[in-house]
Amino acid sequence: MKTYKIAVIKGDGIGPEIVDEAIKVLDAVSTNAGFNLVYEEVLMGGCAYDVYGEPLPKETIEVCMHCDAILFGAIGGEKWDNLPRDKRPESGLLKLRSTLELFANFRPVKVYDELVDASSLKPAIVEGVDLLVVRELTGGIYFGEPREKEEKKAYNTMVYTKSEIVRIAKMAFEAAMVRGKKVCSIDKANVLEVSQLWREVVEEVAKDYPEVSLSHMYVDNAAMQLVRDPKQFDVILTGNIFGDILSDEASQISGSIGLLPSSSVGGKVGLYEPIHGSAPDIAGQGIANPIATISSASMMLRFAFGEIDAADKIDNAVSLFLKEGYRTKDLSSFGAKEICSTQEAGSIIADKVSKL
Ligand code: IPM
Ligand code: MN
Repeated sequence: MKTYKIAVIKGDGIGPEIVDEAIKVLDAVSTNAGFNLVYEEVLMGGCAYDVYGEPLPKETIEVCMHCDAILFGAIGGEKWDNLPRDKRPESGLLKLRSTLELFANFRPVKVYDELVDASSLKPAIVEGVDLLVVRELTGGIYFGEPREKEEKKAYNTMVYTKSEIVRIAKMAFEAAMVRGKKVCSIDKANVLEVSQLWREVVEEVAKDYPEVSLSHMYVDNAAMQLVRDPKQFDVILTGNIFGDILSDEASQISGSIGLLPSSSVGGKVGLYEPIHGSAPDIAGQGIANPIATISSASMMLRFAFGEIDAADKIDNAVSLFLKEGYRTKDLSSFGAKEICSTQEAGSIIADKVSKL
């Protein structure tokens, strides 16, 4: 029987709670599915700093490199906010992304029919939204040199090389080919040289995809268009920092940031994680929404292992769960028939998966 090895990074805050539920669902879907899942838990983030004095210990990188995929919860919290930048939990995640060359981050935004009222936008605007943010993840201003914080001056550098733009643009066009065949590339080419190059290179890559229609948008306009008419978008292609900001904005279209999964790929091993953070304010209370992590586990089955049936089962179980009126606290005001805890939500979804 096929066996897939999964590195599990629970992280900080609500991370452990939501990852435990995703594992519950993975175990349910792998029973009698013709494959085995084995897990190896490793530390990253604040919890790793507390044990090793480093947010990303060598052991963690090694285990991740020898696994078939990585399932990750969330990191960070006030406790570690005043550490020097390279010791902060976030630095662990950034270093993991760059060490594993996970340059392509996919953040799909879908609106569940049952939750059209949960969005802060009008139902008619959000109903049927189905877009994909393709965010460049290992370059741009997050990693550019020089960077420095001095007493009276601080700076960062936004830099992209042509080859970095080519490879992320290809990812976006490939994704568009199996979706709505539209790419909107988002930049700030009216002000930034780095965006001018971005635009030129994206135009060049587009020539290899004549079936895909390409448009460009300035990031300020895109932020507005996303809430004015999100249905105009199919694939959004953008750089690291714009993608960070726009994907949080896009998540609210779906009603809760607790719903959206992501995958980060490009190197040998992919990383699957919810797009939300560690929410320390609600950690340990059993009220976090595990759906984003459960859906990230489904993306892992689909894209890392090619286990399409199993992934479909998880997605269908999540839809059923919502359809039947189960809600975690974040969505309790929207069509709730029964409010459930993080753990109950995981068990109900796992149970549905077993019966599908
Ligand atoms: C994300 C997060 C990270 C980012 C942080 C935690 C470093 O906000 O995955 O979107 O900015 O990329
Ligand atoms: Mn973010």
